[in-house]
Amino acid sequence: MRQRLDVIWQWLPQQWGVFKPWALRHLRRLKEWLAHIWRVYTARDNRWLVVPCTAAALFVLLVMVKSYQGIAYNFTRECKIYKLGYPIEDARALLAVLNDAQADSLISRQEYDTIAIPVINARYFIANNFDRYLALHKADTTGKTLDHIIALVNISADRDRKSSSVPCDTTKGQLMLVNGRHYLDENYKPDNLVKFDKSCCYEEQRAQRVVVDAFMAMRKACEEETQAHLMVNSSYRSYHDQIGTHKRNQKGYAATAGHSEHQTGFAIDVTSRENPMRWPFDASQEGIWMREHCHEYGFILRYPEKQSYLFGFAYEPWHLRYVGKEVAKRIHDEDITFDEYYAYYIEGPHAKAQRR
Ligand code: DAL
Ligand code: ZN
Repeated sequence: MRQRLDVIWQWLPQQWGVFKPWALRHLRRLKEWLAHIWRVYTARDNRWLVVPCTAAALFVLLVMVKSYQGIAYNFTRECKIYKLGYPIEDARALLAVLNDAQADSLISRQEYDTIAIPVINARYFIANNFDRYLALHKADTTGKTLDHIIALVNISADRDRKSSSVPCDTTKGQLMLVNGRHYLDENYKPDNLVKFDKSCCYEEQRAQRVVVDAFMAMRKACEEETQAHLMVNSSYRSYHDQIGTHKRNQKGYAATAGHSEHQTGFAIDVTSRENPMRWPFDASQEGIWMREHCHEYGFILRYPEKQSYLFGFAYEPWHLRYVGKEVAKRIHDEDITFDEYYAYYIEGPHAKAQRR
């Protein structure tokens, strides 16, 4: 390539001799022509032409520019989205949140989607998931609400569980997520396990130190309010313990090994000395108190009734997960699950604001 350029570079000046008379002749003609126009234009008798001619020239220029803009606009994403049936302000709103690939994907659908605008205005909208919200909405035959579509996609419930499973990010500490799609290694064991006081369990129980401390504070407050005594039925379970728990559990309340957050040391199963059975505990004064106040001590109800409908896990009024007071309060106040919190605040668009 370089050699070729060198050849051309040497050839051009050699040929200049041939072109020079021709080029000079035409330049001279152009100059004469322009000079003639200028003479006519500025001649005393033609002065009246200056204003209308200039206006006409500007008008022609404007028409040319506008025509070009009109033609070019047809090729913009805004126009293409508008042509799908979205009002122009909606097309602009979509383009403000979507990247080029997502906008092109929306255009390639060749149809107006009623959910596109509500989706981008939804509380927990994550731009990267835009295509999947629309796809789930289209495939849905059960009339899922917008909030459910957003939640299901955010937690990847629209994806095949096996292929979308990822190792749990244990560096997140008390905010690590373990669920059907986030699993712990067989060898994972927390290194900060301490025993609960004998008075609050029927057999030896261990959990992360922060969990034990938070539970003791919550237990004390519960006793003062309800005179009942919260008890820890289950806490840290190793991967191999969980294999046994899963086998013994016939009702489907136990996760498969590696997918149980009991292995993190941040989860506990709680009832009370007065109501040791789970469902009487659920309806008891202390069970209700615990559900309403556990966030004040850094716990969340990990499997609330609402999510069993959403995500298909059983409601477990006794299973608490420690996430710290600030996060527990947000999850409680916003009435979301930890899975949704994690997708939006830890991995999603607000991750940075939440990181400390
Ligand atoms: N009971 C919950 C789902 C667990 O086994 O981790
Ligand atoms: Zn549990």
